Amino acid sequence: MTQGVRGTRDFYPEDMRLRNWLFERFHSAARSHGFEEYDAPVLESEELYTRKAGEEIVGQLYNFEDKGGRRVALRPEMTPSLARMVMARAGGLALPIKWYSIPQCWRYERTQRGRGREHYQWNVDIWGMNGIEADAELLSVLVQFFDSVGLSSEDLVIRISSRKVLEEVLGSLGLEGEIFAQTCVIVDKMDKLPEDVVEAQLSDLGLSSESISTIRSVLGITDMQSLSSALSSDSEALIELQSLFSLCDSYGISDWVSFDASVVRGLAYYTGPVFEAHDRAGNLRAICGGGRYDKLIGTLGGNDLPATGFGFGDMVIMELLADKGLVPELSNGVGDVVFGMGTELRGAAMQVAAKLRSAGRTVDLVLENKKMKWVFKHAERCGATRLVMVMPDEWAEGKVRIKNLDSGEESTVAMDNL
Ligand code: HAM
Repeated sequence: MTQGVRGTRDFYPEDMRLRNWLFERFHSAARSHGFEEYDAPVLESEELYTRKAGEEIVGQLYNFEDKGGRRVALRPEMTPSLARMVMARAGGLALPIKWYSIPQCWRYERTQRGRGREHYQWNVDIWGMNGIEADAELLSVLVQFFDSVGLSSEDLVIRISSRKVLEEVLGSLGLEGEIFAQTCVIVDKMDKLPEDVVEAQLSDLGLSSESISTIRSVLGITDMQSLSSALSSDSEALIELQSLFSLCDSYGISDWVSFDASVVRGLAYYTGPVFEAHDRAGNLRAICGGGRYDKLIGTLGGNDLPATGFGFGDMVIMELLADKGLVPELSNGVGDVVFGMGTELRGAAMQVAAKLRSAGRTVDLVLENKKMKWVFKHAERCGATRLVMVMPDEWAEGKVRIKNLDSGEESTVAMDNL
């Protein structure tokens, strides 16, 4: 009872500092590309998520009946809420919509390194654009973020493919419609589940063993040359992917991206380009993932609107940064520690603190009688840059003593010049 729920995290101030540091970088990569922030409730109607393609995420729902007898769920992902919001204002929103958010998401998953039962997930999405330019812009947001935390293209790779590759291959085998999304969901697990389990699931869907082996061989392709030989010459998937890689070139991010047909993604709603970032060493789960989902609103009963986006968790990235020695040492942001010598100078110390605060300084005022030794230690613990001491003699002349904690220099400064 006194322990947090398994798979959930407490954020002590030192954890919160890091979280804010990370989120600030999420915010700034999105804002620098012209995205605006939105939010939605963590509690949604269960039916927003009960898709029928056999996705893991549906089985991991935190769902229950509320006191009014409504079936509700904690959101496992943001995309359906976003779709709901866009749908509610359909026609009234200027297109393209470029929105981002950092929601907490809940999934009843097996907890492991980089995976918990709650996580914060940076979501960046563009709605109302058919062109591949939107997908490329998302990749640029991602790279800008990676750059801002000190990661390079030697540390990680964004693997890209398109659902259309599999759609075209299945089409050539005479498999279309409903079966496509279900196949994608199964195929996504190919590297996580034993071969025979995946094969059994695919054959349950009605795929012959020849079809399964064709799919396997196509999913093994990791270069565009081989892809073009595997698909027909007028393949939409191929043309789309070629343009996407050429746009990456224009953004100067080619080193960060590579083609990999095995990227399919485990969510049913993707329809076009899909991508995932992975650490190059292959030690961690996916850092982030996304893709195009042009038909999601249709499945919710609205009129389809093209959309593309990604979700980026806060857990795997911190593991990667730790592995690379890139987690910053952050102080708690206090600039000045103000200390009044004795109870009589408490009021004076408050005046000094108030003056510094209104000048924009971040001030921690010592509120009790403490020994000088404690005050110095406290200032050090806070990571303060200055110790401002209110002492009887100096105060009598309207002055305070300031110690610069970096250089050790001390000076006496008049209140007016603080
Ligand atoms: P997803 O691949 O299920 O996609 O999740 C995206 C990212 O969220 C993952 O790559 C990972 O970083 C993080 N994540 C997911 N589950 C967990 C977990 N249990 N613990 C820690 N981190 C986790 C989606 O959710 C899509 N809705 C993303 C999207 C947005 N697609 C288009 N727009």
